[in-house]
Amino acid sequence: MDFYEVIKNRRSHRFYTTEIPSDDQIERIINAARLAPTWGNRQGMEYVIVKNPELVKTVWEAIGQTEKFVNAPIFIVGIIPESKSGINNSGEKYYPVDFGICFEHLILTATAEGLATCWIGYFNEPKIKDILNIPNRYRILGLTPLGYTAKPKGEVRNRVPLETIIHYDKF
Ligand SMILES: Cc1cc2nc3c(=O)[nH]c(=O)nc-3n(C[C@H](O)[C@H](O)[C@H](O)COP(=O)(O)O)c2cc1C
Repeated sequence: MDFYEVIKNRRSHRFYTTEIPSDDQIERIINAARLAPTWGNRQGMEYVIVKNPELVKTVWEAIGQTEKFVNAPIFIVGIIPESKSGINNSGEKYYPVDFGICFEHLILTATAEGLATCWIGYFNEPKIKDILNIPNRYRILGLTPLGYTAKPKGEVRNRVPLETIIHYDKF
């Protein structure tokens, strides 16, 4: 798939088949996330790949959006310690930006592999950390199912018009 095809084909998928992506696919996806840029090349991101079927079910229940992601065979949980990024000159911690860049690399690469994902931002972080033994110094800012879609979707649509978001030279 050409790069722009990947961008257009990435959609949020909430219905999955039980087919399990291969370990090679998972490694290619995580490797793409590994190549993402980070503040000062600090590379704070790590990934918990939840494959054990019972654990997958426990995580799915803990997410709390049980009307969705019912058969998802795998969950990938992105984790980052706050200390492994920078602080900008407004005093703001930058680790959410590193997280977002790496996780989007992951999601786009999954799309290129023909796999389905859905960035999940609404979940009970302490519960997920507890289930997966993730130390408290890490933050989870997103997780995603990984699998094959049971409901194929078309290209990305419903976006604001281009001319409303481009400001040439000045706002
Ligand atoms: C940061 C972030 C958090 C999101 N959280 C959720 C979520 O908790 N549950 C969900 O079903 N979708 C979630 N989504 C998916 C969005 O609803 C989706 O990206 C948006 O509706 C656009 O649709 P598309 O991804 O198919 O283009 C999230 C997306 C992002 C980027």
